[in-house]
Amino acid sequence: MMMMEWKWLRLIRMAVMLLVLEGCRWCTTDACLEHERIALLHLKPFFNYGNQLQSWVEVKGSDCCKWKRVECNTTTRRLIKLSLNSTRWFDNMGYDMDNGNLNAWYLNTSMFLPFEELKSLYLSGNAIGGDLENEGFGKLSSTLSNLEILDLSFNYLNDSILLSLSELSSLRYLDLSYNQFEGSSHPRGFQLLSRLNNLETLDLSWNSLKNSILFHMRNLSSLKTLRLRRNQLKGRLDHIQGLNNLTNLKYLDLSDNSIESISNQDGTQWRLTNLEELDLSNNLFRNNTISFPQGLSSLKYNNSLQGSLDTKGLRNLTNLKKLDLRWNQIESFQSFKDGGSKLELTHLEELNLDANLFNTSVFASLNKLSNLKSLSIKLQ
Ligand SMILES: *[C@@H]1O[C@H](CO)[C@@H](O)[C@H](O)[C@H]1NC(C)=O
Ligand SMILES: *[C@@H]1O[C@H](CO)[C@@H](O)[C@H](O)[C@H]1NC(C)=O
Ligand SMILES: *[C@@H]1O[C@H](CO)[C@@H](O)[C@H](O)[C@H]1NC(C)=O
Ligand SMILES: *[C@@H]1O[C@H](CO)[C@@H](O)[C@H](O)[C@H]1NC(C)=O
Ligand SMILES: *[C@@H]1O[C@H](CO)[C@@H](O)[C@H](O)[C@H]1NC(C)=O
Ligand SMILES: *[C@@H]1O[C@H](CO)[C@@H](O)[C@H](O)[C@H]1NC(C)=O
Ligand SMILES: *[C@@H]1O[C@H](CO)[C@@H](O)[C@H](O)[C@H]1NC(C)=O
Ligand SMILES: *[C@@H]1O[C@H](CO)[C@@H](O)[C@H](O)[C@H]1NC(C)=O
Ligand SMILES: *[C@@H]1O[C@H](CO)[C@@H](O)[C@H](O)[C@H]1NC(C)=O
Ligand SMILES: *[C@@H]1O[C@H](CO)[C@@H](O)[C@H](O)[C@H]1NC(C)=O
Repeated sequence: MMMMEWKWLRLIRMAVMLLVLEGCRWCTTDACLEHERIALLHLKPFFNYGNQLQSWVEVKGSDCCKWKRVECNTTTRRLIKLSLNSTRWFDNMGYDMDNGNLNAWYLNTSMFLPFEELKSLYLSGNAIGGDLENEGFGKLSSTLSNLEILDLSFNYLNDSILLSLSELSSLRYLDLSYNQFEGSSHPRGFQLLSRLNNLETLDLSWNSLKNSILFHMRNLSSLKTLRLRRNQLKGRLDHIQGLNNLTNLKYLDLSDNSIESISNQDGTQWRLTNLEELDLSNNLFRNNTISFPQGLSSLKYNNSLQGSLDTKGLRNLTNLKKLDLRWNQIESFQSFKDGGSKLELTHLEELNLDANLFNTSVFASLNKLSNLKSLSIKLQ
């Protein structure tokens, strides 16, 4: 009798467990939230170029966490990443600085408001333009308080959106490269960005920014990476002072501009003691008149130095580990001040002098590099 009862009890227990398991599948606790699914469907018609969002189906109960370009938090089942990059027709071939707005469109950012836990939003390459000053991204700040990564590269945005961007105070990474920022049309524009006091990476490459941009960004002291490649920085950079305040900066890319010299005439020392890599490639430096930051551990020039390189400016780089001088037209090293010709970089481990105009006399300049591990001097 006892045996029979136990058997029944076990059977009942199994049935209950099965019900619980099946039941969970039915009540779909592991699907995405209905209102987020509907919000995604509202976005779909704007970003479905080439039917890239075909997995976004209008079927009730469909788990949008499994849709392409969507990522959810596995616990809360709420959206944390949305990758809508290159999902709109973008006539790259017909891109023209003067008529660039040809196929720009107005993005209604309210459509992103339901995604309250969103951390990363990729919107690059979508021809987004329009005057977003009043609407813009600012309104997202009220609900998207976790937004850390915003990629708006390859669009038609200009200075008029800076005010609204400056309200997204949770941002750590902001990519504004390949847009139409000028830095001068809105006097307070880039200064406003300094409200983003969590911002660590700012990419402004391939815009039309002038020298004054460095000054306007002087309060962005949380920045660790700043990219200003291919803008309109030119001549003498006087605004060292602005740069100098970015004391957390680790990586600075100023390549592909027309910088001739970097001056700090008033004698202020560089305070960028955390700067590890400075890329000054493809500028118009002639004689090396720059005063480099002391702690720098990696320096790169390409296609911007010629003739005899003044070693005076390099002498202070006692932490320099990596020096990349490829693709210049350097003939020799020389200190114009004291006539010396030695590179005295005691920490240097990697030196690349490929594609310059050296002859064998250069080796005499290199014999003080006591820690050198790799040296390359290929002729072009
Ligand atoms: C998912 O959400 C939980 C609860 O809010 C949180 O503790 C966790 O860090 C989140 N995970 C990710 C990857 O965001
Ligand atoms: C979109 O962006 C994500 C994140 O950067 C990247 O992994 C993915 O390759 C990009 N997709 C396209 C089509 O560009
Ligand atoms: C923007 O999107 C929101 C939410 O989808 C909608 O309520 C609003 O009408 C839209 N505004 C415009 C101007 O289309
Ligand atoms: C920015 O773009 C908008 C819309 O394309 C345009 O109306 C406005 O004049 C532009 N502003 C500047 C400063 O170029
Ligand atoms: C930048 O910082 C200076 C000094 O702390 C302050 O006077 C100025 O108002 C700040 N500018 C902006 C735009 O935040
Ligand atoms: C920027 O640096 C200057 C001196 O170079 C200093 O007077 C100013 O207060 C600094 N601003 C900030 C916001 O740190
Ligand atoms: C570089 O400096 C040397 C010595 O000061 C000078 O003779 C030479 O003309 C300068 N070259 C250029 C391109 O400025
Ligand atoms: C090198 O550092 C010394 C002491 O800090 C300083 O006086 C000198 O001006 C620096 N030289 C250059 C070329 O930066
Ligand atoms: C250096 O610049 C030249 C000319 O712009 C370019 O062709 C080359 O790829 C660059 N090399 C490196 C290593 O950056
Ligand atoms: C090698 O280069 C140095 C510096 O440019 C020059 O003074 C010297 O004449 C050159 N020697 C030969 C053999 O070309």
